[in-house]
Amino acid sequence: MLCILYICKDEKDVDDESLSRVLTYNEVKSNTFVFMVAGYETTSSALAYCTYILANYPEVQKKLKQEIDQYFGDHSEQDQKKDLDYDAVNRMGYMEMFIKEVLRMYPIPVTGVSRQCMNETSVCGYKITKGSVVQADVFSVHYDPDLWGPHDPNEFYPERHEEKRHPLAYLPFGVGPRNCVGLRFAMIEMKIFLTRLLKQYTVVKCDKLEKHFNIREKIVLAPAEVWIKLH
Ligand code: HEM
Repeated sequence: MLCILYICKDEKDVDDESLSRVLTYNEVKSNTFVFMVAGYETTSSALAYCTYILANYPEVQKKLKQEIDQYFGDHSEQDQKKDLDYDAVNRMGYMEMFIKEVLRMYPIPVTGVSRQCMNETSVCGYKITKGSVVQADVFSVHYDPDLWGPHDPNEFYPERHEEKRHPLAYLPFGVGPRNCVGLRFAMIEMKIFLTRLLKQYTVVKCDKLEKHFNIREKIVLAPAEVWIKLH
């Protein structure tokens, strides 16, 4: 960010010919806003869905805890002090499938995945005219039994991600050259958070959970409230 601001502020002083264009102040301002919304709302909403699932699926939570415990070894003092690093959380295969399944069932910025058609084309018999804006129907894709079966796509089942799927079947981070730039960062952030949480606590359902869950669309699709207990 500092680097971008420097380019912007000292626009007139830039004499490097390889820089054919500098960012304007408004471009820096609007991109900073996008990063704030895209980076915080999305990850925190995803983690809210994760805790909802953890509370509802104790057997899934147990498997995650087992995987985490494997990393932290035999509970010796030395093992407990182990720092979590990039490689360690990336070795947690069930954790990866768990987060993927949460985002399949609860995609977050669904209205964000849209594209403008540059050349007239037709898809499955539907004509798409040049200039029209097309929004991906992420829910239909994520719940399509042909793409996500044979296990019922309405059920939470992380193991379905062991199987290779159609490259366009999974769209929580969008697709193509304009997909989410924060994808890898977000995955690491969520894995580290969940590991720390589940290393110390068990997420337990509480009476208010379903009543207050109601998914709402603000900038992203997020639950209104997630009421859980931590043991
Ligand atoms: C669970 C977390 C996240 C989800 C589900 C998510 C999802 C998405 C989606 C669906 C898009 C639109 C992609 C498309 O049109 O194909 C997007 C774009 C974007 N995301 Fe994320 N995102 C997440 C985290 C982050 C984080 C942590 C950052 C930044 C640190 C970030 C930065 C961006 C930016 C800058 C764009 C616009 C990219 C462009 O237009 O070229 N996202 N994200």
